[in-house]
Amino acid sequence: MSDNGLSPQNNQGAERGGDQDLAAPDTPGVAIRPAVAGDLPAIVGLLADDPLGRLRDDAAAASLDPAYTAAFAAIDADPNQILAVMAADGGRIVGTAQITFLPGLSRKGAWRGQIEAVRVAADLRSRGLGERLMAWAVERCRERGCRLVQLASDKTRLDAHRFYGRLGFAASHEGFKLYL
Ligand SMILES: CC(C)(COP(=O)(O)OP(=O)(O)OC[C@H]1O[C@@H](n2cnc3c(N)ncnc32)[C@H](O)[C@@H]1OP(=O)(O)O)[C@@H](O)C(=O)NCCC(=O)NCCS
Repeated sequence: MSDNGLSPQNNQGAERGGDQDLAAPDTPGVAIRPAVAGDLPAIVGLLADDPLGRLRDDAAAASLDPAYTAAFAAIDADPNQILAVMAADGGRIVGTAQITFLPGLSRKGAWRGQIEAVRVAADLRSRGLGERLMAWAVERCRERGCRLVQLASDKTRLDAHRFYGRLGFAASHEGFKLYL
């Protein structure tokens, strides 16, 4: 496995939080933290700024649509959820991910972490920020005693699949969805 900060031996990147060792010199310093309500328009903006996301999210509605504020309130009130944001120096929100901690009986009652809705701002991709965000998220799962971390990625997102593979995730399962 590459030295990506996701192994137990190397989680300094996650511990440092908002720090320096970024690949490209013009990449801003960043800090990763749980989202607050004021971050909501920026988060929805990131979700919508994507070929798949723009089919299902509407950044213009972020501050208006009660569906987004209700969803944020539910996430915020749930101790088994962390909606994370990556904030650049100056406060711009440049990344987001949602972590859900799932209890289960299988694997002798193992908790698992689920990471979804991972985004980095389009103008800052391929500079290591996504890797930092994932390392932070995996560290939160480790802290909560999760025995595995799972995620699903649309089959068309081949670049993202390469990204997750590089971080040590195995494409070991077929994902099934039933839209209601
Ligand atoms: C996937 C994503 C979070 C990675 O963040 P990042 O900061 O670009 O990641 P890193 O710099 O740490 O790693 C770069 C790798 O990310 C992937 N990547 C880069 N741009 C991407 C893009 N537009 N879409 C998907 N994956 C991308 C590639 O695998 C890249 O590796 P490469 O340079 O060898 O091609 C980010 O690119 C993104 O938000 N993409 C669009 C939305 C998406 O696909 N999200 C994942 C949903 S499951």
